[in-house]
Formats: sequence, structure tokens, C-alpha cells
Amino acid sequence: MLGQEIGIDLGTSTVLVYMKNKGIINREPAVVAVESTGGKLIAVGGEAQKMLGRTPENITAVKPLKEGVICDYSTAEKMLRHYINKAVGGSLIGAFIKPKIIVSVPSNITEVEERAVIDAGLQAGAGRVMLIEEPLAAALGVGINVDEAKGNVIVDIGGGTCDIAIISLGSTVLSGSIKVAGDSFDDAIIRYIRKKYNVLIGERTAEQLKIKIGCVYKRDKLLAMEARGRSLVTGLPKTIQVSSDEILEALKEPAGTVVDAIRTLLEKTPPELIGDICRNGIILTGGCSQIYGMTSLIRRELDMKSVVADSPETCVAVGLGKAMEHPELLKRK
Ligand SMILES: Nc1ncnc2c1ncn2[C@@H]1O[C@H](COP(=O)(O)OP(=O)(O)O)[C@@H](O)[C@H]1O
Ligand SMILES: [Mg+2]
Repeated sequence: MLGQEIGIDLGTSTVLVYMKNKGIINREPAVVAVESTGGKLIAVGGEAQKMLGRTPENITAVKPLKEGVICDYSTAEKMLRHYINKAVGGSLIGAFIKPKIIVSVPSNITEVEERAVIDAGLQAGAGRVMLIEEPLAAALGVGINVDEAKGNVIVDIGGGTCDIAIISLGSTVLSGSIKVAGDSFDDAIIRYIRKKYNVLIGERTAEQLKIKIGCVYKRDKLLAMEARGRSLVTGLPKTIQVSSDEILEALKEPAGTVVDAIRTLLEKTPPELIGDICRNGIILTGGCSQIYGMTSLIRRELDMKSVVADSPETCVAVGLGKAMEHPELLKRK
């Protein structure tokens, strides 16, 4: 094909761009900084993320996606335009033929939400926008032969959503998506610390606690970390010492919700596929699947084996690349 093909994993936390014959060419936080009046683009990605919560009045830093879908259309379009231009920039073909883009979306996205992704892509300079369900892309990325008549379960725990899908014969047999994932884990930590210590910590601090000492299953060795926040009693900065057991307690509810969602889907799975699934185990992808103890929690609660994919954060993007060779897996619009 003459035109270029670009895969975009439009995540709530991270945007990855995959280019045919090149691989992953971009991996940046899904944040855009724009001028407050007029909306002129100032920065995209890591640079914009540094501005979150710290911008002067004339600049706004926005996360254009929330819970897996576009929540701020105009910045989403600007972000897509930036990445499309960056991908095709300087290429002669790109200057004449608009690229085709393949975007991954949560499995239970509504028609309206789907339309927003397509329109934003077209407005941002794509000649054609194709969509693929995120878990299917993740399965391709992990290297599962999706055309086989064997059932596989993929659980992608990202920032905004946890997407669960049973895949067989190149399509999704059953899927579910809940709006509980990494961001909800951070919120749960913020709430726990506020309640227990009367201290308000920021989102970034909560995320650090989650990544560095967090767990959803008791750690063999107790870890601790200092966290800085604002005392709700004095209004002044305060440093507290937080333990991994406390984070375990804080994450009990959202982690339980993820497990319940997997259980619900397994209960609906046709019996022929259950056998395969028990044999193969659950495959975990997405950044938040790396939280300590997820596989142990699944074993304890569901009596099933599971495995975290190699580089779980890039599976969807790699899968977009593979989907370029399998157009039959794409949702045509
Ligand atoms: N080592 C880790 N442990 C726990 N959570 C992590 C880790 N690394 C990243 N995360 C979390 O993963 C989420 C982002 O995952 P990602 O798959 O990139 O999301 P999305 O596809 O929604 O953009 C964030 O909530 C981030 O805090
Ligand atoms: Mg994702």
C-alpha cells in the first residue's frame, strides 16, 4: 500500500504510536498543554505533564481522555494531529496521501464515543480511521494466535479502564470494561491517607506510593515510603511514613472490583472455552497489571493461574502493528 499506516494506542494515561515498518515511535503521557484563551497548542506529552497542576493562568494542561474515552474533544484532536504530523512529518508520501490510522478503543465503547474518536482522527489529518477493540489488540501484541479456536482471556488494566475479553477465532466472544483501574487505585490511596492521617496528598504522590510500595496481595517484606502532603488540620505541609500494608488496605476495594469483573465474565463464558482458559491462564496487560500481587490475588480469589505479559504497557501498540496485517480484525466504519 502506498499510504502510511499508523497505529495509535489512545490510552487514558499514555499514548503510544506505532508506525508500520518502524515499530513504536512514540510513547508519551496523554497530556496536552494549551493557551487558556484561543486554545493554541503549547506542549504535548511529557512536557505538558510537567505542567499539570502547576500552570500559570494563561496555560491549561489537560488530559483529553478519561476512563478510556475522549472527554475533551478539541485537545484530543490537537494531540492526534501532533502525533500524526510527527509520524508522517518529512515524508514525501505523507505530504500527498493522508495516512490511515488504527486506533484502539475500550470494548464497550458507545457509538457516540466511537464517533468522537473517528471524527477527531479525520479532523487531525487522517485519511481513514479504523478502530480495534483494545483487548483484541493486546492479544495480538502478546503473540496469541487469535485465529485459533482456543479461548484466551485478556485482562488489560490501564489507567482509566480495566478491559476484560475472552478471545477465540479472531474475535471477542465476550467482553467487559469497568472504569476501575490505575487512576481509581490512586484515588483510593488519596482517600485512605486523608481519612487515616488527615493529610491530602497529590495524584502524583499517590501514584508513586502505588508503584513503589503498593500491593494487592500481602508483600513478603514490609516496605515503607515517605509521602508529602498538606495537613487538613493546620493547612501546612506534612510528611508521613506510609507502609505497604496500608496501601494493601487502601487498594482492597478497587482490586476487589477488578477481580469481581473478571469473575463475572468467567461465569458467562461458554463451557467449551472454560477448559482452554483454565489451561492457558489469564494474560494480564496494561501498566497497572504490574502492581505487586495481582497474579497471587487472582489465584487466591478465582483459583486460576495468570501471567503478566512481557512489557505489558506496549502490548496494545505492538498489537496495532500486527492488526495492520490482519485487516479482518478491524472494525470498519
Ligand atoms: N509498576 C507499576 N505498578 C503499578 N501500576 C503501574 C506501574 N507502572 C504503571 N502503572 C500504572 O499503570 C497505569 C497506566 O497504564 P497504561 O496501560 O499505560 O494505561 P492506559 O492504556 O490507560 O493509558 C497508570 O495508572 C500507572 O500508574
Ligand atoms: Mg491501554
